Amino acid sequence: MSDGIRDRAAVVTGSTKGIGLAIAEDLLRGGARVMISARRQGEVETVGRRLLEANAGRVAWRACDVRREDQVEALFRGADEAFGGLDILVNNAGVGLHRNLEETTLEEWNQVLETNVTGVFLCSRAAIPRMRKRGGGYIVNISSLAGKNTFPGATAYNASKFALNGMSEALLQEIRHDGIRVSYVMPGSVNTGFGSGEGPDPSQAWKLTAGDIARVVVDLLRHDPRSLPSAVEIRPSRPPRKG
Ligand SMILES: NC(=O)c1ccc[n+]([C@@H]2O[C@H](COP(=O)([O-])OP(=O)(O)OC[C@H]3O[C@@H](n4cnc5c(N)ncnc54)[C@H](OP(=O)(O)O)[C@@H]3O)[C@@H](O)[C@H]2O)c1
Repeated sequence: MSDGIRDRAAVVTGSTKGIGLAIAEDLLRGGARVMISARRQGEVETVGRRLLEANAGRVAWRACDVRREDQVEALFRGADEAFGGLDILVNNAGVGLHRNLEETTLEEWNQVLETNVTGVFLCSRAAIPRMRKRGGGYIVNISSLAGKNTFPGATAYNASKFALNGMSEALLQEIRHDGIRVSYVMPGSVNTGFGSGEGPDPSQAWKLTAGDIARVVVDLLRHDPRSLPSAVEIRPSRPPRKG
């Protein structure tokens, strides 16, 4: 009987670093086949080739900006070609913004909403018919506690993750009877260098690791098809005391 991961075909968006990379690595450890993607072609290739060395025949890669409909369609055609279909989509690609609304430019607003919401819409829309063909599948959306708690100075990010949570819950109801499950994960602070490209900061060891979030995703995928943990909150157990 399948454990929900072995031999499954997965697309993980934003999987060249941080949480997405940790999820891709855990899926590969579990025996899945994984499509690596992010915007930067060079990084996509470097990470794809490195992962392929240890996981022969189970890794494919393609650069994709999730905001671009043509690139998203090409990404999923790539999964068809490489894996013959799709079972798992992890919508992980996301960007943050520390900015009061008044100081946010329209371009910044659009970048956050288009990546964190429109990107999930485009990827999920491409994934659903492919999963239906397989008789089911699993979509995991990486949201944030910023989808539930408000943070002054993060209005665009809050708006995007609140929208993502609402979209996830509605989509769950739209496709559950096709055997396609939808969950969203809401991490608190994760030590990734989110958006900076700099990687984990050793002085922030109290934060969650990317591996902590990957573990949640793998646990969700391994749940019996009968059960659906639809939303998961995960936070650092001992953050610095306030005040
Ligand atoms: N770190 C945290 O504290 C934290 C907490 C809660 C939730 N999250 C969520 O977790 C997810 C991953 O965050 P992270 O900390 O791992 O970030 P990260 O280290 O900055 O990695 C982000 C990944 O997404 C890719 N990406 C960014 N924009 C993209 C786009 N338009 N299209 C495709 N790929 C794109 C990046 O590569 P390119 O730049 O090459 O595209 C990179 O691979 C995000 O959705 C974030 O909101 C993070």
